[in-house]
Amino acid sequence: YPWQEDLTDLMVRRLSEETNDLLRRLGRMAESLSMRAYAVGGFVRDLLLGRTNLDLDIVIEGDGVAFMKAWEREGYRVSVHERFRTGMILFPGPRKVDVATARREFYEFPVAQPTVASDSLKHDLYRRDFTVNAMAIALGERDWGTLVDYFGGRRDLRRGFLKVLHNLSFVEDPTRVFRAVRLEQRLKLKMEENTVRLLTSCVRGGLLSLLSGLRVKSEVEILFHEALPLPAIRRLREFGAWEVLFPGLAVDSRTDRVVRRLTVFFRRLHRDLPPFEDSLWLVYLASLLFGSDEAVQRSVMDRLHLTPAERHVLSLSLFSLGAAENDLGGRGERRPSEICWALTGVPLAVCLFWAAATERQRIRRRLLLFLTRWHKVRPMLTGRDILDLGYRRGPLVGKILDALLTARLDGSVETREEEIQWVLDTYPGAAPDTERK
Ligand code: CTP
Repeated sequence: YPWQEDLTDLMVRRLSEETNDLLRRLGRMAESLSMRAYAVGGFVRDLLLGRTNLDLDIVIEGDGVAFMKAWEREGYRVSVHERFRTGMILFPGPRKVDVATARREFYEFPVAQPTVASDSLKHDLYRRDFTVNAMAIALGERDWGTLVDYFGGRRDLRRGFLKVLHNLSFVEDPTRVFRAVRLEQRLKLKMEENTVRLLTSCVRGGLLSLLSGLRVKSEVEILFHEALPLPAIRRLREFGAWEVLFPGLAVDSRTDRVVRRLTVFFRRLHRDLPPFEDSLWLVYLASLLFGSDEAVQRSVMDRLHLTPAERHVLSLSLFSLGAAENDLGGRGERRPSEICWALTGVPLAVCLFWAAATERQRIRRRLLLFLTRWHKVRPMLTGRDILDLGYRRGPLVGKILDALLTARLDGSVETREEEIQWVLDTYPGAAPDTERK
């Protein structure tokens, strides 16, 4: 029998009204089809930990496909994988609900079954990775809010343990090595001894190297989206996972230093920057590769099947740091405009990486000033304004705007009037067309 606990109060206290409503509707729909619905996985775990998690995973005892089709008839967008009997429903918000099917044999199906215990749910949960992820909450009218915990997930969560459900967990799916390290660090859990042993033998046995490049890429991407990736990077190093994944990779204290700076700078600056979360993982990857030989760096790019755009960010980060240091260096004062023009066309994520990777203070400071202030500076006058001053349409207008940007960056002009005066003084030879003026 599963360990059961009534979570009704907790759900009212910790979940939004909207989430509770959605769960009720999902439960009712399942019942109207003589099925049962359960919330499972990370959602349940995070509810018990008091952490917000908007990713809702539902397991349907019955037929998940018929369940999703019923929502489709009500006008919701669904996408269904018939073969795996999984899919998702898109609710307004937008709010995505993932649906899986726990097959239920006919003889198991008395609708009036009084308990929530059932083999099909148990089997579904047993396929999962860790005990803390293998709990479910019943969503039916009568069993609403009942925690179903067959494998001691609740106890492990209380004691702060991350523990595999069974000894083949990592063998079945080696990406769970990444998941283990990620969850351990993010949720401040401690990997239980047997789990450490199993993870270690999965790594030592070379199972990680059997993963496809795309799966590794997706795990690395998720890992580097964690708020604090450094502890996970280090933990994977302790286990020797990086070496197995990317032979020849040198992950050392220099990596730590660059990653740490990257995290600090990103936190401090992200409000000043246009969103580049998409490339953030790439510059963390650059930090990971920073201390290795170019041949290793290139083989990692190949192994991960990076797209041309991703390769561009990574190559620029790694292979042009030296050139950037030359361009941005110099003992004396450098005018802000010189720095800005030197960085034209360089993605901001790459600038952030260079700021973290360089050991030259002066250059770091210049890059950070560029990221916090200078990259946003534009002249107040527009091309239209330049034409209105009487200059003729043509390349000169662009040239004037560039020069004006330089003047503004270097503090020669402040107000709009000063800009106008500056243009007229600097380009008198272009003889503003007084008629048009
Ligand atoms: N799962 C698993 N093995 C995997 C991936 C997922 O067993 N390789 C299971 C876990 O039980 C997990 C559930 O599938 O709880 C849903 O996966 P996902 O949404 O990726 O994970 P979450 O636990 O929600 O983790 P996160 O908060 O990092 O998204």
